[in-house]
Amino acid sequence: MLTQIDHLGIAVTDLDSALALYGGAFGLVTNHREILEDQGVEAIALQVGESTLELLRPIRDDSPVGRFLTEHGPGIHHIAYRVEDIEAALAHAQAAGVRLIDHTPRIGLGGAKIAFMHPKSTLGVLSELVQRP
Ligand code: CO
Repeated sequence: MLTQIDHLGIAVTDLDSALALYGGAFGLVTNHREILEDQGVEAIALQVGESTLELLRPIRDDSPVGRFLTEHGPGIHHIAYRVEDIEAALAHAQAAGVRLIDHTPRIGLGGAKIAFMHPKSTLGVLSELVQRP
Protein backbone atom coordinates (compact mmCIF):
# COMPACT_ATOMS: atom_id res chain seq x y z
CA MET A 1 0.00 0.00 0.00
CA LEU A 2 2.83 2.43 0.90
CA THR A 3 5.19 2.57 -2.06
CA GLN A 4 7.96 4.83 -0.75
CA ILE A 5 8.75 7.58 1.73
CA ASP A 6 7.51 10.61 -0.16
CA HIS A 7 8.99 13.25 2.10
CA LEU A 8 9.90 14.26 5.63
CA GLY A 9 8.38 17.43 7.03
CA ILE A 10 10.65 19.62 9.16
CA ALA A 11 9.28 22.48 11.25
CA VAL A 12 11.43 25.62 11.15
CA THR A 13 11.08 29.15 12.49
CA ASP A 14 12.81 30.84 9.55
CA LEU A 15 12.71 29.49 6.00
CA ASP A 16 15.58 31.57 4.70
CA SER A 17 18.05 30.43 7.35
CA ALA A 18 16.84 26.85 6.87
CA LEU A 19 17.44 27.26 3.13
CA ALA A 20 20.91 28.63 3.82
CA LEU A 21 21.67 25.41 5.72
CA TYR A 22 20.10 22.87 3.38
CA GLY A 23 21.00 24.67 0.18
CA GLY A 24 24.38 25.96 1.30
CA ALA A 25 25.82 23.25 3.52
CA PHE A 26 24.14 20.30 1.80
CA GLY A 27 23.71 21.62 -1.75
CA LEU A 28 20.01 20.78 -2.02
CA VAL A 29 17.92 22.48 -4.69
CA THR A 30 14.52 24.06 -4.05
CA ASN A 31 11.91 22.70 -6.41
CA HIS A 32 8.87 24.42 -5.00
CA ARG A 33 7.82 27.18 -2.56
CA GLU A 34 4.20 27.81 -1.65
CA ILE A 35 1.90 29.19 1.04
CA LEU A 36 -0.72 26.66 2.13
CA GLU A 37 -3.38 28.80 3.82
CA ASP A 38 -5.51 25.91 5.11
CA GLN A 39 -2.50 24.34 6.85
CA GLY A 40 -1.22 27.71 8.07
CA VAL A 41 2.27 27.22 6.64
CA GLU A 42 4.72 28.45 4.07
CA ALA A 43 6.48 25.41 2.66
CA ILE A 44 9.58 24.71 0.62
CA ALA A 45 10.25 21.37 -1.07
CA LEU A 46 13.89 20.39 -1.44
CA GLN A 47 14.80 17.50 -3.72
CA VAL A 48 16.97 14.75 -2.21
CA GLY A 49 17.40 12.12 -4.90
CA GLU A 50 13.99 10.52 -5.35
CA SER A 51 12.69 11.87 -2.06
CA THR A 52 11.96 15.31 -0.69
CA LEU A 53 12.41 17.39 2.42
CA GLU A 54 9.51 19.70 3.22
CA LEU A 55 10.52 22.73 5.28
CA LEU A 56 7.52 24.22 7.07
CA ARG A 57 7.24 27.65 8.63
CA PRO A 58 4.01 28.59 10.38
CA ILE A 59 2.22 31.69 9.08
CA ARG A 60 0.02 31.69 12.19
CA ASP A 61 1.04 30.81 15.75
CA ASP A 62 -2.17 28.82 16.27
CA SER A 63 -1.59 26.59 13.23
CA PRO A 64 -0.59 22.95 13.86
CA VAL A 65 3.04 23.66 12.91
CA GLY A 66 3.00 26.82 15.05
CA ARG A 67 1.82 24.80 18.07
CA PHE A 68 4.40 22.11 17.32
CA LEU A 69 7.20 24.71 17.36
CA THR A 70 5.95 26.17 20.62
CA GLU A 71 5.89 22.73 22.26
CA HIS A 72 8.95 21.05 20.70
CA GLY A 73 11.02 23.68 18.91
CA PRO A 74 12.32 23.06 15.38
CA GLY A 75 12.61 19.44 14.26
CA ILE A 76 11.03 16.56 12.38
CA HIS A 77 7.30 17.25 12.21
CA HIS A 78 5.92 14.43 10.06
CA ILE A 79 6.74 11.55 7.76
CA ALA A 80 4.85 11.16 4.50
CA TYR A 81 4.29 7.96 2.56
CA ARG A 82 3.47 7.72 -1.14
CA VAL A 83 0.37 5.73 -2.09
CA GLU A 84 -1.27 5.04 -5.43
CA ASP A 85 -4.88 5.28 -4.21
CA ILE A 86 -5.23 7.58 -1.21
CA GLU A 87 -8.95 6.95 -0.63
CA ALA A 88 -8.35 3.19 -0.50
CA ALA A 89 -5.29 3.64 1.74
CA LEU A 90 -7.26 5.84 4.18
CA ALA A 91 -10.13 3.38 4.33
CA HIS A 92 -7.72 0.50 4.91
CA ALA A 93 -5.85 2.33 7.69
CA GLN A 94 -9.09 3.38 9.39
CA ALA A 95 -10.45 -0.16 9.25
CA ALA A 96 -7.23 -1.30 10.94
CA GLY A 97 -7.86 1.12 13.82
CA VAL A 98 -5.77 4.12 12.80
CA ARG A 99 -7.28 7.47 13.82
CA LEU A 100 -7.54 9.80 10.85
CA ILE A 101 -7.15 13.58 10.98
CA ASP A 102 -8.32 13.93 7.36
CA HIS A 103 -11.16 11.58 6.46
CA THR A 104 -11.10 12.88 2.90
CA PRO A 105 -7.95 13.97 1.08
CA ARG A 106 -7.09 17.63 0.59
CA ILE A 107 -4.65 19.37 -1.70
CA GLY A 108 -1.11 19.78 -0.36
CA LEU A 109 2.23 21.12 -1.53
CA GLY A 110 2.62 20.95 -5.30
CA GLY A 111 -1.01 19.93 -5.88
CA ALA A 112 -0.71 16.41 -4.43
CA LYS A 113 -3.65 14.74 -2.68
CA ILE A 114 -2.72 14.40 1.00
CA ALA A 115 -4.24 13.22 4.27
CA PHE A 116 -2.87 13.15 7.81
CA MET A 117 -3.26 10.44 10.43
CA HIS A 118 -3.18 11.12 14.16
CA PRO A 119 0.20 10.60 15.88
CA LYS A 120 -1.55 9.06 18.91
CA SER A 121 -2.45 6.08 16.73
CA THR A 122 0.84 5.91 14.80
CA LEU A 123 3.35 5.48 17.64
CA GLY A 124 3.82 9.19 18.21
CA VAL A 125 4.69 10.04 14.61
CA LEU A 126 2.42 12.38 12.68
CA SER A 127 1.98 10.49 9.42
CA GLU A 128 0.79 11.69 6.04
CA LEU A 129 -0.35 9.85 2.93
CA VAL A 130 0.46 11.39 -0.46
CA GLN A 131 -0.93 10.57 -3.89
CA ARG A 132 0.89 12.31 -6.72
CA PRO A 133 -0.80 12.99 -10.05
CO1 CO B 1 4.01 16.85 4.24
